[in-house]
Amino acid sequence: MPVISVNGLTKDFGKIRAVDGITFKVERGCIFGFLGPNGAGKTTTINILCTLLKPTSGKATVNGFDCMTEAPKVRSSIGVVFQDMTLDKDLTAFENLLYHAILYDVESGKRKSLVLDALRFVGLYERRNDLVKRFSGGMKRRLEVARAVVHQPSVLFLDEPTLGLDPQSRANLWDFITKLPVQKGVTIFMTTHYMDEAEVCDRIAIIDKGRIIAEGSPEELKKLIGGDVVYLKTTNNAEALKILKERLSLVGKIKGDELFITVTKGEACIPEIIRTLGEAVLSVRLQRPTLNDVFLHLTGKEIREETIDSSDELKEAIRAYRRRFDRG
Ligand SMILES: Nc1ncnc2c1ncn2[C@@H]1O[C@H](COP(=O)(O)OP(=O)(O)OP(=O)(O)O)[C@@H](O)[C@H]1O
Ligand SMILES: [Mg+2]
Repeated sequence: MPVISVNGLTKDFGKIRAVDGITFKVERGCIFGFLGPNGAGKTTTINILCTLLKPTSGKATVNGFDCMTEAPKVRSSIGVVFQDMTLDKDLTAFENLLYHAILYDVESGKRKSLVLDALRFVGLYERRNDLVKRFSGGMKRRLEVARAVVHQPSVLFLDEPTLGLDPQSRANLWDFITKLPVQKGVTIFMTTHYMDEAEVCDRIAIIDKGRIIAEGSPEELKKLIGGDVVYLKTTNNAEALKILKERLSLVGKIKGDELFITVTKGEACIPEIIRTLGEAVLSVRLQRPTLNDVFLHLTGKEIREETIDSSDELKEAIRAYRRRFDRG
């Protein structure tokens, strides 16, 4: 049985339709990503699933419990990291988590050890008695993840968990998040703007203007583009474009000082392109489609204006997470 099941979910705020009849399922133990630009309806969907908002129509269940009629059962089985920080800055890290454990009715005999376990899990054990107001942004976010798992939920909702963090802190946080499905069997439902983070997901739904416009694994989504992109610099790009069209039936476009062509198999096409253009070729590079290309392809716009470079640490965290599949 899917751990999250959403059917025809719609939410109107007055005249604004924030969520427009979405349907999807999330399997247990996976990382499911909700990807979309500002105002797409991501937070609204999370708020409905967390029982903080009532939908206008449609149905949603989490852990088999109905989000409308069985809200307390849903709440006790989930953890949430909200888009905006919700820690009490005048309490210590330990006190924040203990307070949460009490609110969540964690058995009194187990509270302290679960809180300390969660602090250890995110690497904040040594700082447990420090006031949260003395924490860095990355540490606060890690503490929020720790708080969200103290009561041992089976589903964790993360709304833009790394927003505003520097690449190093993002990598660090992802290192903890990706351990959750593997070590604790937790299902993760997350939203993000960052394409590199979305690569971590087992499945992704792309949402735009309240509607899901595509769904699949990162690899499946990239296949929607229909191939690789070959970038060429030549002595005369306009002339090269013409020759490639006439002789190889390849249709390209000029972008800046390069021309790019979408092809089915980059490796196979490049020798033929070089043979055809000869010495006019100054440089060639092959790019596999990114999730950003997918988004551009589907919506005609970039997911986010500013881009942020992936740090090597984040790439390594993603690779480490992927390796668990290789081990089976
Ligand atoms: N409480 C509210 N009252 C009125 N409109 C709202 C409310 N909450 C959200 N909206 C509107 O619903 C739409 C979807 O908002 P939502 O916060 O779900 O987007 P989002 O995908 O989370 O965006 P972001 O990436 O900026 O966080 C937006 O047009 C927003 O203005
Ligand atoms: Mg949001």
